[in-house]
Amino acid sequence: MTHIGNALTFTLPLILAVALHQILAGCPHKNPGKPVMGRYQVNDTRGCACLLANMGLQLNISFSSASLNKTVQDVVNLDPNVTMSSGSCGADNAILRLSANDNKTNLTFTFTVNTTSNKYHVSEISLSAAWPDMKEPFSAHNATLNHLCGTVGYSYMCRKEQTLSVVPELAINTFEVQVQPFNLTQDQFATAEECQLDKDDMLIAIVVGAALAGLVVIVLVAYLIGRRKSHSGYQTI
Ligand SMILES: *[C@@H]1O[C@H](CO)[C@@H](O)[C@H](O)[C@H]1NC(C)=O
Ligand SMILES: *[C@@H]1O[C@H](CO)[C@@H](O)[C@H](O)[C@H]1NC(C)=O
Ligand SMILES: *[C@@H]1O[C@H](CO)[C@@H](O)[C@H](O)[C@H]1NC(C)=O
Ligand SMILES: *[C@@H]1O[C@H](CO)[C@@H](O)[C@H](O)[C@H]1NC(C)=O
Repeated sequence: MTHIGNALTFTLPLILAVALHQILAGCPHKNPGKPVMGRYQVNDTRGCACLLANMGLQLNISFSSASLNKTVQDVVNLDPNVTMSSGSCGADNAILRLSANDNKTNLTFTFTVNTTSNKYHVSEISLSAAWPDMKEPFSAHNATLNHLCGTVGYSYMCRKEQTLSVVPELAINTFEVQVQPFNLTQDQFATAEECQLDKDDMLIAIVVGAALAGLVVIVLVAYLIGRRKSHSGYQTI
């Protein structure tokens, strides 16, 4: 009994200390958790959906803080409840514009289609933000990107978290993305094409599953052989 008591008095504070350390270590890098998935839509001049995007978005942004008087790293989720979508659809490019928090955050994605390869991708992202603690409004823009590549006639899907780097001061983490910027029919997504990350995940699951199944078979065969041997052993006696 005293042994167990001693062990507890030593291990309990240790566990608490480790837990506390984890919590405190998490403090400098605020993590807002997974963002809520938004359902964004752009309509053409006839009022039909010409771009659909379901995704959770998280901005990872470094800006000059007014209160701390230094550059800070902030991770902020885009809240779909206070985000409006607009944009336009053209033959070879489509724009999704998201405005959040009464226009204090404007995020724009430009999709471009390559008619030779029959692929589309996000070629341009821009963000302007005027948040309370910013010394000056933040603005970032990159027009030579190659993110979320899909095939014309399909929607692009990626369940796994992805990081879209824009400029050194801005990256966008995406969660559970399904987008289609071209060739929508009847306001619906076309068949989804899964991203490589998801395919890799599936492959790992299959390999692990096959390995486990193999192990079960080996154990079963070993057991059966063992049983047979002991049976034949009895028969000789
Ligand atoms: C945000 O960006 C910084 C710098 O690139 C990186 O160290 C950090 O892990 C990122 N955080 C998240 C939640 O993506
Ligand atoms: C379109 O795709 C083709 C074939 O993959 C490639 O050679 C070409 O550079 C691409 N064009 C643009 C504008 O990216
Ligand atoms: C976002 O866009 C709106 C409308 O164009 C504009 O009034 C507002 O100033 C923009 N916000 C920022 C932070 O640039
Ligand atoms: C824009 O994106 C490209 C491709 O990811 C990158 O090579 C380039 O450095 C970026 N431009 C800026 C200004 O960060």
